Amino acid sequence: MSSDLLNQALNQTAHQTPNLIVGIYVVAALLFILSLSSLSKQETAENGNLYGIIGMILAIGATIYDPRIEHFTVIIGAMAVGALIGTRLALKVEMTQMPELVAILHSFVGLAAVLVGFNSYFEHAVMTGVMLNIHLVEVFLGIFIGAVTFTGSIVAFGKLRGIFNSAALMLPHRHKMNLIAGIAAFALMVVFVMDAGKDTLPLYVMTGIALIFGWHLVSSIGGADMPVVVSMLNSYSGWAAAAAGFMLNNDLLIVTGALVGSSGAILSYIMCKAMNRSFISVIAGGFGSDVSAAAVDKDYGEHREITAESVAELLNEAKTVLITPGYGMAVAQAQYPVNEVCQALQAKGIDVSFGIHPVAGRLPGHMNVLLAEAKVPYDIVFEMEEVNERMAEADVVLVIGANDTVNPGALDDPNSPIAGMPVIEVWNAKQVIVFKRSMRPGYAGVQNPLFFKENTQLLFGDAKESVENIFKAL
Ligand code: TAP
Repeated sequence: MSSDLLNQALNQTAHQTPNLIVGIYVVAALLFILSLSSLSKQETAENGNLYGIIGMILAIGATIYDPRIEHFTVIIGAMAVGALIGTRLALKVEMTQMPELVAILHSFVGLAAVLVGFNSYFEHAVMTGVMLNIHLVEVFLGIFIGAVTFTGSIVAFGKLRGIFNSAALMLPHRHKMNLIAGIAAFALMVVFVMDAGKDTLPLYVMTGIALIFGWHLVSSIGGADMPVVVSMLNSYSGWAAAAAGFMLNNDLLIVTGALVGSSGAILSYIMCKAMNRSFISVIAGGFGSDVSAAAVDKDYGEHREITAESVAELLNEAKTVLITPGYGMAVAQAQYPVNEVCQALQAKGIDVSFGIHPVAGRLPGHMNVLLAEAKVPYDIVFEMEEVNERMAEADVVLVIGANDTVNPGALDDPNSPIAGMPVIEVWNAKQVIVFKRSMRPGYAGVQNPLFFKENTQLLFGDAKESVENIFKAL
C-alpha cells in the first residue's frame, strides 16, 4: 500500500463514527421518517411532532456524546444561547408571522452550510486523488447551495414581513442572467477541482455569484407565489444540510437533510399543482412574473354592504351553508366564534361545511390548523375541488377573511398576477357574504371582482367581532 493510501485509510478510521452512535442515528432517522408520515394527517400530526422531538433529542445527544467532540463546553454554551433565543421567539411569534420566521430560519441553515463548507475546505484530513476531488466538489456544492439558500431566504423573509416590495423584480434578461450565473459557477467548480483546490479565488468568486443569484432568484418571484418559494427554500435548506453532512462525514445529517430536501420538493410540487404553476420554472426562479397587477385600478362598479343581523337572517333561512376562511380569519383569530356559529347552525338542522384553498392564509395547512385548534370536526372540512363541485347547492357562502383564494380574476383575467391559479368558486353559490375591514386588495395586491357581483354582499369590520355579532343575532 502506498504511503498516501495508508494515510487516507488511517485518517478514515480516525473519522469513523462509533457503533453505538451509528445505532442511535439509525433510530433517530427512523423517528424522523415516522414523524413526516404522521404529520401528513391532522389526526396523527401531534404524534408526528413528538416523534420528531424525540428523534432530535437522540440525534443531538448522540452527536455530543461522540468521543471525537473536543469543545464540549462551547457546544453546550452555544446551544443554551440558541435555546434561549429560540424559546423567546417561539413564545412571541404570532401565528400570522410563522412564514417569515420559517424563512429566516432557512437562512440560518444556508449560512451554516456556507460556514461548514469553508471550514472543511481550510481544515480537512490529508487527502489525494479521487478522495480529494470528491471532497472539493462537496465543499463547492455545499457552499453554493448554502449561499443561494441564505440570501434567497433573507429576501423571502423581507417580502413576507413587508420590508421589501412583494412585487416581482423584473430585470431585463433576468432568465439569461440566472443561466449565466449557473454556467459560471459550474465552470469555477471545474477550475477549482482541476487545481486540486490550491487556489481559493474560484471558491470566493462562486460564493459571491451564489449570494447574488439567491437574492435575484427570490426577488424575481411575485408576492402571490411566495407559498411555493417558502417551501422551495425549505427544500434548498435540506439539501444544504445534506451537503454539510457530507463535508462533516455525518450520516444522520445527510439523511435528515435529504428528508427535508425531498419533502420540501414534494410540498413545492403539490403547491405548484394547486396554484397551476410549472415546477421547473419555480426551481429556475422568476415564474409568474411576466404578468402585471393591471387589474388593481379597473372599475368594477358598486359593491353592496350588509349588517350582521341581516346575515343571521339569511343563515336562519338557509339549508346549506359553506364557510371559506382565509388569512383574515387568522389575523382576527375568528376561528373560535366561527365554530360557535357552525354549531348553532347545525343545531338548527342546517348543513354546514368548510371549503379550504390549499394556499389560504400564509402557511401550507394554515386554515386546517386554525380550525382544528377551534375543534371544528375534520369530517365537515373539505378541499377546494370537492366544494367547487357542489357550489351551486350552497344557499349562503361565508367568505371569512379570504380574498385572493376566491378571486374570479384568477380564471378570467390573463393579466392578473394570480392568473391560472385555481380558486374556490364561491360566486356560483346563491348568496355570498364577504367578511373584511376595507376595500383593500388581498396578498397579491389585485382587486377582487367578486366583491362587485350581484349575489355578493360585504360585511365590514374585524372578522371576529362580525362573527360574534352574527352568533348573538342567530
Ligand atoms: P388574502 O388574499 O391575503 O386576503 C386576506 C383578506 O383578509 C383581505 O381581504 C383582508 O381585507 C382580510 N382581513 C385581514 N384582516 C382581517 C380582519 N381582522 N378581519 C376581517 N378581515 C380581515 O387571503 P387568502 O384568500 O387566504 O389568500 C392567501 C394569499 O396569501 C394568496 O395570495 C397566497 O398565494 C398568499 N400566500 C400564501 C401562503 C400559504 S403557504 N398559504 C404563504 C405566503 C403567501 P382587509 O384588509 O380589508 O380587512
